[in-house]
Amino acid sequence: MLNFDFHNPTRLVFGQGTIKNLGKYIEEYGDKKVLLLYGKGSIFKNGVYEEVVNSLKEYGIEYVEMDGVKPNPVLSKVIETVDLMKREKVDAIVAVGGGSVLDTSKISAAAYYYEGNPWDFYEGKVYPEKALPIYGVLTISATGSEMNSGGVITNEEEKKKWGWGSKYTYPRLSIVDPSVQKSLPRNQTVNGAVDTLTHVFEAYFGGTSGTLMQDEFSEGIVRTTMASVKVLLENPEDYEARANLAWAATLALNGLNGLGRRGDWASHSIEHSVSAYYDIAHGEGLSIVMPAWMKYVYKNDVEKFARFGEKIFGIVKEDKEEQALAAIEAYKEFLRSIGAPVSLSERNIGEEHLKEMAENAVLRGPLGSLKKLQAEDVFEIYKLAL
Ligand code: NZQ
Ligand code: ZN
Repeated sequence: MLNFDFHNPTRLVFGQGTIKNLGKYIEEYGDKKVLLLYGKGSIFKNGVYEEVVNSLKEYGIEYVEMDGVKPNPVLSKVIETVDLMKREKVDAIVAVGGGSVLDTSKISAAAYYYEGNPWDFYEGKVYPEKALPIYGVLTISATGSEMNSGGVITNEEEKKKWGWGSKYTYPRLSIVDPSVQKSLPRNQTVNGAVDTLTHVFEAYFGGTSGTLMQDEFSEGIVRTTMASVKVLLENPEDYEARANLAWAATLALNGLNGLGRRGDWASHSIEHSVSAYYDIAHGEGLSIVMPAWMKYVYKNDVEKFARFGEKIFGIVKEDKEEQALAAIEAYKEFLRSIGAPVSLSERNIGEEHLKEMAENAVLRGPLGSLKKLQAEDVFEIYKLAL
């Protein structure tokens, strides 16, 4: 196990009926005027917009609105958001939605105090010294963005979908009311579960040994996620399954699961390059890429893949390599069983851009820790995923 120093400053308010207190929390922290940031309109259909606005009004919090954040959020929207915030001189951001809205809020919160292009933060040309406070109201559990400092934005002109974060961009407070996720389309519930699983795997399969505590913790998240998504596909209204899936998603990427282990994160970069070119949902991209990555790298830690097979699927074989391969196949089968895609062709993606996408994925250097991957390796992984 590696040494670690853990501090997560986000206050997490979890449970049914908690959104109505949003205004009270903002008042407690002394913020008077906020930017209300949201996506393409799901919050009007499921009542979340009304709940948020009623709570802001009840506590006398003034707000200006910015809508239209799209899934796989883009830099141009960040620039538009920051312009509005500067004109309106807001004290904080209320981000209502999923990872896309929360991620947009993070870079916007930092760029509020910066005169240049917000992309400069992503390029590492500039570092924030402060950021506006963020209040999150989560409507889809997937990314963990409600309780981490990261934000993934696509620079659409340069086809770069990159992650960035700083100690100033953890939400100050996030509200997770799992009951508002009942309105999610089936595929978005599945995408959230796949993203959660992949976040666990990025640390679990990172190649660090001696981490029994974290491995058991990870396996608990994996089992909970798999069981909960199965229940939700039968009954999307099941509150306990929604709550368990939501909490699993937060725990998968709020820092705890990664402690004491090197994160691999190659699969995420390989996926980000797919969604930069094809604008497919992050969860779908991961579902396609992760099993291919597993097949490509498992030889570097046969024992861990074999353990995964036993702990998650009950697979035990005399030959550990066979056990590892059966585990990867079982994971792929699980993905199929929840209706997640496992090949690029299922999303009409052919060989056309694979070389470019592979080069694009390694623009910031080789990927991964279990096995260092160069563009040629990423290309092979894409081919395995065809
Ligand atoms: O835009 P609206 O109309 O709100 O619809 C959204 C969107 O179409 C819809 N939705 C959200 N809540 C709903 C709902 N529909 C009905 N009922 C509800 N309760 O769901 C769609 C997807 O939303 P999005 O925010 O894009 O999903 P997600 O949370 O999966 O976020 C994905 C983005 O986060 C990035 C991904 O790359 C992707 O860009 N990631 C962020 C991370 C982080 N900050 O730590 C890590 C992740 O690995 C990931 O890379
Ligand atoms: Zn992810």
